[in-house]
Amino acid sequence: MISAEQNDLITCIGPSAPAGQLLRRYWQPVALADELAGPRPVKPVQLMGQHFVLFRDESGRLGMLDRDCPHRGADLAFGRLENGGLRCAFHGWLFDASGNCLETPAEPAGSKLCTRIRQAAYPVVEKSGVVFAYIGEGEPPAFADFDCFVAPETHTFAFKGLFECNWLQALEVGIDPAHASYLHRFFEDEDTAESYGKQFRGASADSDMPITKVLREYDRPDISVEPTDYGMRLTALRKLSESRTHVRVTNVVFPQAFVIPMSAEMTISQWHVPVDDTHCYWYAIFTSFTGPVDKTQMRNQRLELYELPHYTSRKNKRNNYGYSVDEQLTETYTGMGNDINVHDQWAVESQGPIQDRTREHLGSTDKGIIAYRRMLVRAIESTQAGEGAPMLIDAAQAGALTGPPSIDGIGEDGDAGAYWHAADRERRLKSDWASARLGA
Ligand code: FES
Ligand SMILES: [Fe+2]
Repeated sequence: MISAEQNDLITCIGPSAPAGQLLRRYWQPVALADELAGPRPVKPVQLMGQHFVLFRDESGRLGMLDRDCPHRGADLAFGRLENGGLRCAFHGWLFDASGNCLETPAEPAGSKLCTRIRQAAYPVVEKSGVVFAYIGEGEPPAFADFDCFVAPETHTFAFKGLFECNWLQALEVGIDPAHASYLHRFFEDEDTAESYGKQFRGASADSDMPITKVLREYDRPDISVEPTDYGMRLTALRKLSESRTHVRVTNVVFPQAFVIPMSAEMTISQWHVPVDDTHCYWYAIFTSFTGPVDKTQMRNQRLELYELPHYTSRKNKRNNYGYSVDEQLTETYTGMGNDINVHDQWAVESQGPIQDRTREHLGSTDKGIIAYRRMLVRAIESTQAGEGAPMLIDAAQAGALTGPPSIDGIGEDGDAGAYWHAADRERRLKSDWASARLGA
């Protein structure tokens, strides 16, 4: 339980809010590269309560500008992509990806007005199918050499979805190792295959024991939290017998991402990005450690649940997330279908637009959440004091930050720590792209 002031401090992300100022020090996902495909690569973007227009000019260069035209405020998202930039549809002023005003065509011939006009422009880069932007002051930090960024393009797939709630409660679901035994419980261990929400239900890395059975039958995980260079690592142990322990290692990449195992072959790196104080997008990069991914299939599977153009979920609070009493009695813990994304969405949206943390009561399984909030408050305070914050790395430091390892499997020798280090190394060595990078 925290005070209302403290809750505002860690959740509100407007330009003058302390957490907003912290998050603006980091690259933020603003679109999927897929959203800029097609004949007119222009897209309005809302990030932390601010409005921008993202576009790719005729030469392929990405740009992100403030959305309101500096002439008289018309919406540049309706602009024309031509002559080396984006042209406002109101009076034809033309801006390039750096925010330079190239033309003010209605002005008298020889006018120098455009030399005095600049539109605010922001650094943008595309990484593994996600467009990241930097809207903070000064130079952006470097990207770490995390698996999701260094894997070949063929081995990653990116997607997103909208949550109708504050970003922090959405992130907190990812650092809560206990909920999977309940929220995602399936009463039967049926086949694990076809729908993507069920992929999570595959066997643990080293065993035939379905993860659903482990989660269902061993529902009091022993959780530990360690600070790391990139944020923190959470280890959840479920002791199956004297010699066998189920180990799940997940990570927070500060400030807003987590890296978790999806299967023995794949990890998910997921950001929770504030649209405003009461909406956020999750952006995920799925990274394969074995073969290339089938992007078309992965996208089509997700489009069964998510609707374009805004990547909203077809199951949502307006239709009770598809809740069925019969299903809750016989098949799943929630009665909301097999897709774990829907379960998580219900959990975080049902906490309200901004969870009222003055009314919560944390238990010992919430120690990751407590540790993360402390890290967040410290980073907010040090940003306000004009000091550094975690993960504001430069290019020289980027190569030292790799992985981070995320493992789900069963260790046989009872030494969970040795197990997951070995399992992570084995997975990396197995992968063409990662072994090349390790020089193995
Ligand atoms: S408002 Fe954009 S050119 Fe006039
Ligand atoms: Fe979950």
